[in-house]
Amino acid sequence: MKLAIMGAMPEEIEPLLKYYKNYETIEYAKNKYYLVSYRDNEIVIAYSKIGKVNATITAATMIEKFACEKLLFSGVAGAIGNDLKIGDLVVATKLAQHDLDISAFGHPYGYVPEGSVYEEADKNLISIAKFVASKKNIPLKETIVATGDQFICDVAKKEWIEKTFHAGALEMEGAAVALTCSALNVPFFILRSISDAADMDASFNFDEFLASSAKISADFIISMIDKVIDDKLK
Ligand code: ADE
Repeated sequence: MKLAIMGAMPEEIEPLLKYYKNYETIEYAKNKYYLVSYRDNEIVIAYSKIGKVNATITAATMIEKFACEKLLFSGVAGAIGNDLKIGDLVVATKLAQHDLDISAFGHPYGYVPEGSVYEEADKNLISIAKFVASKKNIPLKETIVATGDQFICDVAKKEWIEKTFHAGALEMEGAAVALTCSALNVPFFILRSISDAADMDASFNFDEFLASSAKISADFIISMIDKVIDDKLK
């Protein structure tokens, strides 16, 4: 099978490239795609660059050009709830775009024309993540994730996102990946490790914890791969 593993920033895929070591690099559409052979399967790894548009281009390319059949996203997120600490892992159950606003026409915030507010992640991939987490005794929080083209570093803004979307974490790509995969019928999974609390310290914490939190997320993705390929819990 062909599997996509995607991040948004170089730091989010570096641990994957270090782990798989041997890969072919293909440049396409102003981006690099790293092709790994693994157990008679192909894993395509790429980072999109930050934001929803970049994420859409990369996810669509991984599916349409590289024929990936499942997509796993690995990266970092800002925490909304106080229960989440830096380095904690969150799995998106469903995702919404917090900055998509056609409420002037009577639609709820985040409503996607001819669609809905939320896009649900693949339940099978979430089950695999929960199985791996329980075997390794790693806490995994399932939550709604809110996505927007803004780095959130403001408590009032994050509280609005929490109240409006019931989200537990926020980031800048997940819902775009979700919409792309759903449109192209590809099961997807979004994993994030907390890098900051989306408050006034967020930019400092993000810089400090990006690499360590990104590695926590990437290491967990690596531990899921065999089961994702085999598509069964053992
Ligand atoms: N990704 C990690 N932290 C974030 C934040 N505070 N806002 C948006 N995306 C993020």
